[in-house]
Amino acid sequence: MPKLLRIDASARSSRSLSRALGNRFISEWLRRNPGDEVILRDIGKTPPPAISEAWIAAAFTPPERRSLDQAKALAVSDDLIAELRRADLIVVTTPMYNYGMPSALKAWVDQVVRVNETFTFDLGRGDHPLEPVFTGKTMVMLTASGEFGFSAGGIRQDMDHLVPHLNTVSKYLGVTDSHHIGIEYQEFDDLRHARSVADAHDAIPALVDRLTAADANSSRPVTARAADRTNTAGHDERLGAYSES
Ligand SMILES: Cc1cc2nc3c(=O)[nH]c(=O)nc-3n(C[C@H](O)[C@H](O)[C@H](O)COP(=O)(O)O)c2cc1C
Repeated sequence: MPKLLRIDASARSSRSLSRALGNRFISEWLRRNPGDEVILRDIGKTPPPAISEAWIAAAFTPPERRSLDQAKALAVSDDLIAELRRADLIVVTTPMYNYGMPSALKAWVDQVVRVNETFTFDLGRGDHPLEPVFTGKTMVMLTASGEFGFSAGGIRQDMDHLVPHLNTVSKYLGVTDSHHIGIEYQEFDDLRHARSVADAHDAIPALVDRLTAADANSSRPVTARAADRTNTAGHDERLGAYSES
């Protein structure tokens, strides 16, 4: 049975549009897959600590040579990586802050993307020395932004450093299948925003249907199929730029 890891990154709670999308996704998923486990990690309310010099030194020290202090420095990272390891489907709900990801989400990424845990590094691989340890995971990004036009062809298409960044680092989370649904126009609070909210919520059941069908047709928990990528922020296909190896 697939395990879902839900990461909530908004600093807001009940007013958060991205969290509301997450609630909808999880309830649609559990309606179709009632036995599945959902791991909740609320980094918006409890942000992981930023990594430090001590953290980096500890991460690059072989486990058997780590001091007690070094082991402690990696304790949060160990817990977050253990959650990631168990997950087949990662649901990230996140706002856009300053055209990128909230610092809490960046802190989570920095804690989980760790040498010899989630990626290996080998100069023998030439110009591409990093390889992910995990594979076959699916990621669903549920986003909210105050402005609009971040999709391909939109008036701010070059200003989105949230979805492209998440897609780039997701390789080292073991993600091989990625989807995005986003709400825009929050700051305008007009009809376009209302339509964007409705469209995003309406897109969720179809995505859950597709992922559930892929799961049922696969020997793996959740199928990684590049051809099945979707992006429903303004119904564009920004993920075409995301390449997997
Ligand atoms: C600190 C901060 C920075 C923001 N920066 C941006 C931004 O760069 N671009 C944008 O479109 N919206 C920006 N917004 C608006 C949020 O993305 C928008 O309010 C969104 O709905 C927040 O997500 P949430 O509803 O899940 O909390 C910002 C909001 C805050 C609080």
